[in-house]
Amino acid sequence: MEDNETIEVIKNRRAIRDYQTSKDVPDELVHKILEAGGYAPSAENQQPWRIVVVRDKEKQRFIGQRAVNRTIELFGRATPREELERRLSYIQSKASLERTIDILITGKRFEYIKGEPETNGAPVLLVLAVDQTHVGNSQPTLRGTGGVYGWSGPRHAVIAGSMMMENMALAAASLGIGSCVSSVQLDHFDDVGAISELLGIPFPHWVPILCLTLGYPIAERTLGPPRQGPEEIAFLDTWGKPFTVGGNK
Ligand SMILES: Cc1cc2nc3c(=O)[nH]c(=O)nc-3n(C[C@H](O)[C@H](O)[C@H](O)COP(=O)(O)O)c2cc1C
Repeated sequence: MEDNETIEVIKNRRAIRDYQTSKDVPDELVHKILEAGGYAPSAENQQPWRIVVVRDKEKQRFIGQRAVNRTIELFGRATPREELERRLSYIQSKASLERTIDILITGKRFEYIKGEPETNGAPVLLVLAVDQTHVGNSQPTLRGTGGVYGWSGPRHAVIAGSMMMENMALAAASLGIGSCVSSVQLDHFDDVGAISELLGIPFPHWVPILCLTLGYPIAERTLGPPRQGPEEIAFLDTWGKPFTVGGNK
């Protein structure tokens, strides 16, 4: 079956880490992307998300530097080289593998978050925070309807927020705007606290979980890390029994 336009956008979206620094993303387009994000599904339609649009260069630098520092710590110190090689084993050429390992252990891979021209940084950085109390504060009309003890409200907020993020990445791709989801600067609680303080996010009620850089790509990227096909990721009725077209009767 042929791919339609939506599926083409989904398949062609790639993580972009090199941006044209002389070409800004106008507010109208950022607005359109945010609006598309808001159409994501959420439990009880709570819409437990808020976005800080970071255009301030100092703030972008601060957040990006956190990403670089954590990457050096995570990949340069905490992860053995053999483990890095194993995880990146899908990279065929030895030279590309070496380059990828080098930019990970030196933190260079995440310089783009800082938004600086020298490293092809993104002009816009979105920071997504989700409502971790999920007691109806996100939507005044639903105040007090959620957060029942024993139910996984906070998890729902993270799930809904992630769906919102993907909506925005796809909307951006459909407009010719590159994006990259990133979390390395929000994986450690010290960073979550520091970034919340920087942006005035009322932590821990609202918790920043993901960022999305936006900008025009320097070069189109159509190839990305390989994907597993439906035959590998889906089962029919029972775990382990492959789902195949025509083989399900
Ligand atoms: C939850 C999550 C966290 C991610 N964290 C980072 C990150 O910290 N830095 C980064 O550059 N990319 C990050 N990515 C992007 C992935 O590396 C990228 O989507 C993946 O390698 C697949 O490549 P593609 O998006 O080009 O298909 C993240 C993606 C997700 C969904």
